[in-house]
Amino acid sequence: MKIGTALTDNATKALLLGSGELGKELTISLQRYGVEVIAVDRYQDAPAHQVAHRSHVIDMTDTEAVKKLIALERPNFIIPEIEAIATQALADIEAEGQCTVVPNARAIQLTMNREGIRTLVAEQLKIPTSKYSFAQSFEELQAAVENGIGYPCFIKPTMSSSGKGQSMVKSSGQLKQAWEYAKTSGRVDTGKVIVEARIDFDFEITLLTVRALNENGEVQTYFCDPIGHIQESGDYRESWQPQVMSAVSLKLSQDIAFKVTNEIGGLGLFGVELFIKGDYVWFSEVSPRPHDTGMVTMVTQSQNEFELHARAILGLPVNTGLQAPGASAVILGGINAKGVVYEGLDQALAVPDSQVRLFGKPEAFLKRRMGVALATAESVLEARNKAVKAASLVVVKQVV
Ligand SMILES: Nc1ncnc2c1ncn2[C@@H]1O[C@H](COP(=O)(O)OP(=O)(O)O)[C@@H](O)[C@H]1O
Ligand SMILES: [Mg+2]
Repeated sequence: MKIGTALTDNATKALLLGSGELGKELTISLQRYGVEVIAVDRYQDAPAHQVAHRSHVIDMTDTEAVKKLIALERPNFIIPEIEAIATQALADIEAEGQCTVVPNARAIQLTMNREGIRTLVAEQLKIPTSKYSFAQSFEELQAAVENGIGYPCFIKPTMSSSGKGQSMVKSSGQLKQAWEYAKTSGRVDTGKVIVEARIDFDFEITLLTVRALNENGEVQTYFCDPIGHIQESGDYRESWQPQVMSAVSLKLSQDIAFKVTNEIGGLGLFGVELFIKGDYVWFSEVSPRPHDTGMVTMVTQSQNEFELHARAILGLPVNTGLQAPGASAVILGGINAKGVVYEGLDQALAVPDSQVRLFGKPEAFLKRRMGVALATAESVLEARNKAVKAASLVVVKQVV
């Protein structure tokens, strides 16, 4: 394994497609190994732009724009951080053999559209998932729900993330509205929605799974301790690690995560989302990259999810061990405003064993994640209380 010197002709270069808060931490992790990082997003001054060696603003769903930028920068690694990307450009670049798409172009193609990954996991790998169907018209949706999926169910755009365009429908009267919302709020309109029966789970987890090289140079699969989390309107609010679960459900979860990531292939960290009820486990979805709920690992593991992703990508050894129970709680914008100020950071950091990350996003929205509070403690419950308290003390304000 060789790494060059950043900003010289022999630099090892990583191009990040998507430059949010997860990309920002990944940039820092890569730079610690001397990697030259180029951060790309659709808007200027995105979080990772602020720490990368260089940045670009392009429409990442535009195949020609993505290809042009890759030809200009000639990176060794292309690391997608978001789902809405011109995946054909990545497939073409990968086929040319000049650079590595992380974890590989097929993974990005499969996971950017819920239809790809769901069909693969449920039908090919025969892993349990919620009952589901795809619909291209309201009539198709109605038929799918009435002929088997039933209520309550979830309607989601096939291309979306962070709960965008997603709603839970409890009765037939709400179906039309959910259809309209899914059709108009996805990142890209594929013309299709997925409808899923609701799984009445006890709790849900993210199982961070790492495919990395071991000391013999072979690909090995490593698991972090399970991360429990709470979602509101499809977006995460709190996460903690470790989530207590039965030995049976943990083993089943690891088996599912192994099968899915092994099928996807490549090197890197994956966030495998699973629903747990008693000893039953259902696959929900997978991110071929660090996961928002995994931000908790910034305080719980000596190698956090960004460090693990960076190491796996570079072919370096990893250690997924837990150091202390911990929790994360998000800091939402709470207002719609540009160039906000943050008050109460001093009080938040007075909470024992707490840390705060402010992402530096140029514009706040009511429900936009602007930062995260993290805390460790002897128990997960105590850590959650500390993280929630610290998050609540940071107040986002408009400049008047
Ligand atoms: N079929 C389902 N049954 C129960 N809860 C669900 C189901 N689908 C989604 N959810 C809830 O909504 C959250 C977000 O859904 P998800 O499919 O992960 O969307 P996203 O890609 O936006 O993260 C899940 O973490 C879970 O809390
Ligand atoms: Mg999810």
